[in-house]
Amino acid sequence: MADYDFDVLIIGAGPGGYVAAIRAAQLGLKTACVESRETLGGTCLNVGCIPSKALLHASELFEEAAHGHMAQWGITGEFKLDLDKMHAGRKEAVGGLTKGIEFLFKKNKVEWLKGQATFESKDSVRIGDRTVRAKNIVIATGSSVTPLPGVTVDQQRIVDSTGALELPQVPEHLVVIGGGVIGLELGSVWRRLGAKVTVVEYLDQILPGMDEEVRKEANKIFKKQGFEYKLGTKVTGAQANGNGITVTVEPAKGGAAETIEASHVLVSIGRRPNTEGLGLDKAGLTVNNRGQIETDHSFRTSVPGIWAIGDVIPGPMLAHKAEDEGIAVAENIAGLTGIVNHAVIPSVVYTTPEIAGVGLTEEQARAEGEVKVGKFPMMANSRAKTNREPDGFIKVIADAKTDRVLGVWMINNLAGTMIAQAAQAMEFGATSEDIAYTCHAHPTHAEAFKEAAMAVRGKPIHI
Ligand code: FAD
Ligand code: NAI
Repeated sequence: MADYDFDVLIIGAGPGGYVAAIRAAQLGLKTACVESRETLGGTCLNVGCIPSKALLHASELFEEAAHGHMAQWGITGEFKLDLDKMHAGRKEAVGGLTKGIEFLFKKNKVEWLKGQATFESKDSVRIGDRTVRAKNIVIATGSSVTPLPGVTVDQQRIVDSTGALELPQVPEHLVVIGGGVIGLELGSVWRRLGAKVTVVEYLDQILPGMDEEVRKEANKIFKKQGFEYKLGTKVTGAQANGNGITVTVEPAKGGAAETIEASHVLVSIGRRPNTEGLGLDKAGLTVNNRGQIETDHSFRTSVPGIWAIGDVIPGPMLAHKAEDEGIAVAENIAGLTGIVNHAVIPSVVYTTPEIAGVGLTEEQARAEGEVKVGKFPMMANSRAKTNREPDGFIKVIADAKTDRVLGVWMINNLAGTMIAQAAQAMEFGATSEDIAYTCHAHPTHAEAFKEAAMAVRGKPIHI
């Protein structure tokens, strides 16, 4: 240790990095975390998960109140939008949580090194005018927005996800480029608050990577809510014109170009790993053809002593995946066995209704072997029906021979919370029968999960 300033130096204080730092310190390692942002918490807490969920929650309340959903239950009144106050609520959520990480760093004696880190060698990093040596270095630098050639983000009228969280007025017509998770979540926020929203998606269907049936159902529900789509269409440019933007689109498979007039444009075509300016060459590291740093199952890179986790390595770009890798990498550095089961990482889209899945999609499972699928519609679930939340379904995909659950997909108002049960069941190697014979409280949306599991054997009760 004599030569080293720290046992562990973590670059980046997002959900991957800050969690790794706390766990490393808990395990008795002398730990520092470098962060170039003013506040801790990374993309997730500052400009990602948390502020988007604050606006999703607030805009949902507004839609319920102002657009008549509450009136169905006899609750009426005059409801007005105070957007500044809504933004203040978002900032308060971000401020509270980022300060919370600062508190946890102090409590666990993690040193926060403020500034941009650049490798000087495989075990030393420069931060401002200071060079720090560490026995282990964890790269947790996360990701940023993928730019779209021909569409220049000005964060006023042409925004990325960060700008879309801060719009000072409700757009008249928001054109969303990319029908993925960000497009649909932030598109939902502004649609609920009064914007016309058109989603332009390159592929033939929204939400790539998810179960086909779920994608189709989501498309149908969002259309009913007022979303407009241009599927199988790519954006080739966006030009400011007076007060608006002219967006040029053309069929993805070729054909005549056309234009869409928008007041605002959201670019949400994906994210790319942050490795620029990190000096990876000085550490002897390279990136793969997707710009990611490759690791083995223990999160070791090709250079001994350097580890990597989170959005900067392959796998889904999700906060909980980064967090679990943060815990595992710290445990591996401490000589324990840190494992992440990448086959069981849930994903959630926080729209209304919510969309969630874990494990294989039906298409993936069928490609691997014979399966049985049980499906249960929310319309037949007593609680969802009572609450007037009939949209969506739950589907359980099981191995036809062993009955082991291979995947669970759902679209319903509480899917984001309910998917945890599916993930836990799969982590424990559950069969559909195990779920079908687990007592679920009545009346809950979760009973639909039990019924979907019963449906795998063709024996649900309520349909
Ligand atoms: P990041 O959170 O990106 O953190 C990396 C940190 O490293 C950053 O703070 C950066 O400033 C710092 N850094 C980078 N380079 C350096 C350097 N050289 N020196 C010092 N510091 C550096 N995921 C979910 O699971 N659920 C959600 O609901 C969700 N919502 C999202 C909504 C939006 C709008 C966005 C954009 C993302 C969302 N995500 C969500 C994705 C989630 O934010 C990321 O998967 C997660 O933050 C990745 O964590 P990370 O620790 O790998 O990196
Ligand atoms: P995404 O990968 O989810 O979706 C991008 C979409 O843009 C794809 O459907 C793609 O086909 C489309 N696209 C690409 N180029 C296009 C073009 N030129 N014209 C039209 N469409 C085009 O990426 P997104 O939504 O930007 O999100 C980035 C990441 O952030 C995701 O990987 C996700 O994991 C994470 N995230 C997670 C959330 C959650 O867990 N709830 C919420 C928000 C983000």
